[in-house]
Amino acid sequence: MGQDMTSYLDGLLHADFLTYWDYIHLDTLLSLQSPKTPFPDEEIFIMYHQITELYFKLSLHECKQIAEHQNLTAEFFTARVKRINTYFEALTQSFEIMVDGMEKEQFLQFRMSLLPASGFQSGQYRMIEIYASDFINLVAADQREAVRSATIEEQFEHIYWKFGATELSTGKKTLTLNQFEKKYAKTFIELGKQVSNTNFNALLQQLKYKGQSTPALEQQLRRLDVNVNVNWPLSHYKSAVRYLHREPEEIKATGGTNWQKYLPPRFQRRIFYPSLWSVDELEHWGKAWVEKAVSEL
Ligand code: HEM
Repeated sequence: MGQDMTSYLDGLLHADFLTYWDYIHLDTLLSLQSPKTPFPDEEIFIMYHQITELYFKLSLHECKQIAEHQNLTAEFFTARVKRINTYFEALTQSFEIMVDGMEKEQFLQFRMSLLPASGFQSGQYRMIEIYASDFINLVAADQREAVRSATIEEQFEHIYWKFGATELSTGKKTLTLNQFEKKYAKTFIELGKQVSNTNFNALLQQLKYKGQSTPALEQQLRRLDVNVNVNWPLSHYKSAVRYLHREPEEIKATGGTNWQKYLPPRFQRRIFYPSLWSVDELEHWGKAWVEKAVSEL
């Protein structure tokens, strides 16, 4: 490179040694927990959300590499989807940290200081969905046919999560949803357009068309469908039941949704890869898992 090596070696004499804590910005990371109340369990709630967001970031890191690959092969695609599956499986298993890890009495008090914030507003979670499938598959199931050939902007108006975020009493968009859209709507629509030919579903079809062998890839994509659309939502739903279920009337969620009717996977019927499932499997989407999870409560 035409540089003088001894000058570089001289420089090394004066430079500080790299430390573990500087390398991973540990002090910054550990300074990011700021509870709104004095309840000790609120820190668990904050940290577990942060841990989850880091796993979502790991997943998006892989999504981007798949979508932006210049010469994608089934082998690379399969290996990277497998990584995302591992992340989601770790998250599903660790959700017990939420389910049994906080005192219900503390949770029900500190949550009131967090209104109207909700995990519903996780932008990374929605971006993973946009990378994983054709945008149309994120449209509410009963409106999909009507907007199948519409633009991404129009399809976005019917995205499944909007129907979970309407106020119970008035039927109006919740504040949680309005704030979420203000921050992210443009990003989601742009990403949807950007990956219209490079989302996982589109890429699978292209590889098949090119004659690449895809059974191993299809297996990982089916696993992803179950991890993201059934197993993680169910372990999350278990938390909601544990903290918000109270006879005779459910406790209102911070995001104001009718969460009992909105969250269960068999009601949402979010499916990334309909062509990879049998008619029977599609018909019973999420059902067996729901029954198992509810019987374990
Ligand atoms: C005690 C723990 C938790 C409870 C009780 C809970 C409760 C809820 C409820 C009731 C909703 C429906 C929206 C609303 O009205 O707020 C929701 C949505 C959501 N929460 Fe949580 N949550 C918990 C933990 C978490 C964690 C740790 C994450 C991780 C980021 C998370 C992410 C989400 C996401 C992504 C949604 C949207 C789901 C969808 O649209 O299908 N939640 N949560």
